[in-house]
Amino acid sequence: MSESPEETVVRRLRAAGCVFAEDEARLLLAEAGSAPELDALVARRVAGEPLEHVLGWAEFGGLRIAVAAGVFVPRRRTEVLVDEAVALSRPGAVVVDLCCGSGALGVAVATAVDRVELYAADVDPAAVRCARRNVAGAVYEGDLYDPLPAQLRDRVDVLVANAPYVPTDAIALMPPEARHHEARAALDGGADGLDLQRRVAAGAPGWLAPGGALLIETSVRQAPGTLAAFAAAGLRARVVQDEDLAGTVVVGRLR
Ligand SMILES: C[S@@+](CC[C@H](N)C(=O)[O-])C[C@H]1O[C@@H](n2cnc3c(N)ncnc32)[C@H](O)[C@@H]1O
Repeated sequence: MSESPEETVVRRLRAAGCVFAEDEARLLLAEAGSAPELDALVARRVAGEPLEHVLGWAEFGGLRIAVAAGVFVPRRRTEVLVDEAVALSRPGAVVVDLCCGSGALGVAVATAVDRVELYAADVDPAAVRCARRNVAGAVYEGDLYDPLPAQLRDRVDVLVANAPYVPTDAIALMPPEARHHEARAALDGGADGLDLQRRVAAGAPGWLAPGGALLIETSVRQAPGTLAAFAAAGLRARVVQDEDLAGTVVVGRLR
């Protein structure tokens, strides 16, 4: 008896080392409109492209977020940051998603909180194009705060940033899916991984509203350095850790 299309896909994915071959096969079958399209999608996955890039979307916080080739795939661990941001956002809050990538964080916060005024920004044109497909608010292109409109100064209630924080030397140790298919600028945080975080923290007081909050994702090992960056910027900060999601976030408020 010949195998079904699903069995063929599972077999090809397994042979390529995909651990969740059955789940991935189901998603790829649902995405493909025809047998040749399915074959092309499976070939891309077998060649090592991240599943989310092949599908064109990632699940994040229960939402379907469009992701394009080269754009950082939002990670489950970042839902810890979103939960903290949602808890700090009142209805109508002004929320800025800096280093937004696909825009997943801002979209998740804006979905959970009524009438959020959402702004997002990223330096990478591919990320900005992708975020514009996901974000209902404005998406700006440029270095950190540079492209934000001046009228947002002193008005931001919640500023979220999953800035790159991989130390440069550790990039070589990352899985090939990340190294080969996500932009270097989405990963590289400089020698100790904290270059971008320091710049985000230093700039935050110029944009936060009184009592406004800055939330930056980090790692357990780097959390003391992230906290120091918040303190240097005059922000009172705490570390939030979630072992289930393996997520670590520093949350700071203007003193
Ligand atoms: C780790 S990814 C996070 C993307 C998204 N926030 C998420 O969690 O899915 C970091 C993002 O920061 C952007 N980025 C890197 N350097 C930047 C800079 N100087 N200014 C603005 N964005 C920057 C990258 O293009 C990338 O999209």
